[in-house]
Amino acid sequence: MSTNTTDNTRKVTTRRLIEMKQRGEKIAMLTAYDYSSAKIVDEAGVDVILVGDSASNVMAGNVTTLPITLDQMIYHGKSVMKAVKRALVVVDMPFGTYQGNSKEALASAIRIMKESHAEAVKLEGGVEIRESIERILSAGIPVCGHLGLTPQSINKFGTYAVRARQEAEAEKLISDARMLDEIGCFAIVIEKVPAELAARVAQEVRVPVIGIGAGGGCDGQVLVMHDMLGINKGFSPRFLRRYADLAGIMDTAIKQYITDVKDGDFPNGEESY
Ligand code: KIV
Repeated sequence: MSTNTTDNTRKVTTRRLIEMKQRGEKIAMLTAYDYSSAKIVDEAGVDVILVGDSASNVMAGNVTTLPITLDQMIYHGKSVMKAVKRALVVVDMPFGTYQGNSKEALASAIRIMKESHAEAVKLEGGVEIRESIERILSAGIPVCGHLGLTPQSINKFGTYAVRARQEAEAEKLISDARMLDEIGCFAIVIEKVPAELAARVAQEVRVPVIGIGAGGGCDGQVLVMHDMLGINKGFSPRFLRRYADLAGIMDTAIKQYITDVKDGDFPNGEESY
């Protein structure tokens, strides 16, 4: 029997995500960066669309998420917002727009909300960015936290390996998650940590914990759409389940198009005016 109890018509809000956690309904979150794919993702019934700074990698071809700018994130957020009717839309605050000081963080978050019309923002980090998160929350902007592997800190970590395997880092993650919950974040993304640790955090905090590479004990899951659809085939971590081979489907279709053009088969009479 399906456990998908999603109401496919009611708008998803931050409050509704907390209600979903309370009744044990898992939250499905997926990235989107453009109008056309956001429309498909929303109509399929995904609960939360993340306009992730992974756009830096999958849309712009950068090696890390660091180069993407606030203007570029707003452009992606705006495109997604034009398509979405039901899902809650969260936009990632890009590297360098919130770590410096809380005033700058608030100004960046306000630009995202005002110019993209998105409904929430996501920031990477714990106690180090508490002041920025509190200031953004005080302006009535919903905030999603992001702990564990935080890709904007790749130059500090030096690797995308599993985080918080050691006790000290695990304890810090738990205390950061408690803090994010207490100050009023509406959800916390936890990336690439041991399943047992993520499950413990999900049990301890009131708000939903959305995992990526963090096991089945989380309140929901998030994946990068280009990875799970097999558009981006150069990324195969253990946690990734591929639901399609869109790169293969596109390659076959494009090759057939090339053949049809070269053979004079396209366009035919019915495809001409
Ligand atoms: O940018 C992104 O896509 C993300 C997810 C990996 C959670 O932050």
